[in-house]
Amino acid sequence: MLILGIETSCDETAASVVEDGKKILSNVIASQVAIHRKFWGVVPEIASRKHLELINPAISEALTEAKIGFSRLDGIAVTYGPGLVGALLVGLSTAKAIAYSNNLPFVGINHLEGHIYANYLEHPSLKFPFLALIVSGGHSDLVYVKGHGVYEVMGRTRDDAPGEAFDKIAKFLKLGYPGGPIIDELAKKGNPKAIPFPRSYFKTKETLDFSFSGIKTAVVNYVTKYKVQSPPRGSRVPSGREAKSKVKSQKSKPLSTYQLVNLSTDVHNIAASFQEAVVDMLIKNTLRAARIKGIERIVLAGGVASNSRLREKLRAETKARGIRLYYPREELCTDNAVMIACCGYYKLKEGIESDLSLNAVANLSLGSPTQRVSDPEGKMV
Ligand code: KG4
Ligand code: ZN
Repeated sequence: MLILGIETSCDETAASVVEDGKKILSNVIASQVAIHRKFWGVVPEIASRKHLELINPAISEALTEAKIGFSRLDGIAVTYGPGLVGALLVGLSTAKAIAYSNNLPFVGINHLEGHIYANYLEHPSLKFPFLALIVSGGHSDLVYVKGHGVYEVMGRTRDDAPGEAFDKIAKFLKLGYPGGPIIDELAKKGNPKAIPFPRSYFKTKETLDFSFSGIKTAVVNYVTKYKVQSPPRGSRVPSGREAKSKVKSQKSKPLSTYQLVNLSTDVHNIAASFQEAVVDMLIKNTLRAARIKGIERIVLAGGVASNSRLREKLRAETKARGIRLYYPREELCTDNAVMIACCGYYKLKEGIESDLSLNAVANLSLGSPTQRVSDPEGKMV
């Protein structure tokens, strides 16, 4: 079964052909990162316009690489949410047009579900049930997956997503965009215990929700206070407590008046300590959820799943508990259309299709009943 996958939920225009949910025949990603980098984040209007320019060439390239034409396809899978609505509409309208004109079945895919399915490309024999931690620029969802398309969301972020925190801290430190891979790299030369940034957990035991806005503020406060002291270049970096006590006696200036040059000696420790706090928060709730469900398999998904410290630390923790950990290779963690085609394969195989009235849903959550199942006579029910 040959499925064309299309993904345009954020700033990657992606198209791919996948055979039987596992064999990647093409994986085209036209990235807009260079354009959005100037703005330190994705500008929705620019993203939609770029998708319009790039979508047809991306699909042509995906078909050419797979050495097939539209006539050889068995179906189309396209992301219809969550994401930027203008961006989603470009992919969705294109998918509908191709499906209609070639008389092909098409199915709308939840982007988060797509991220989970990236694991099936790497590990096709992955068994249910498992716990999925989906961590990206827009999401932090802890999901108990009982079967294909059967989800129970156990926890999610109440404010920022972890990728968003990485991006915002990188922006604050003027390191570049997107921040996740940059901080990951800088952290390798830093001490994760150098600065004891706080970890936030909810007091009520019942919730497995996350919060990442506090760690962001803690980093900003630390950097601001540290810069007030303006230590000479190359001098020892004060610990959080030292910085706090010294700062009390000094007048603070607005953040914008400081130069980041003094931080050049400390940036590795800040990156490592910030990353460690985020990773600890993610791991603690994930292991709690695994304990609650008595789970034997944990799956990582989404852009932040490529974080080296998250993988390393969770691997050690899961090994110690006899839990198997799965994650996709790095290029399948960040947004791509291969994961959408793979997820589409499992849906279409089960007779799950969408009809041409399907709309983009910016805040779609996992398990939303927006899709329609066609009965054997082809009617929508
Ligand atoms: O899944 P994705 O490509 O797009 C969304 O659905 O949001 O995730 C992008 C996010 C960005 O915030 C990026 O900074 C983060 O994933 N990211 C990382 C790493 N690689 C990408 N965060 C931490 N460590 C990484 N190595
Ligand atoms: Zn994503």
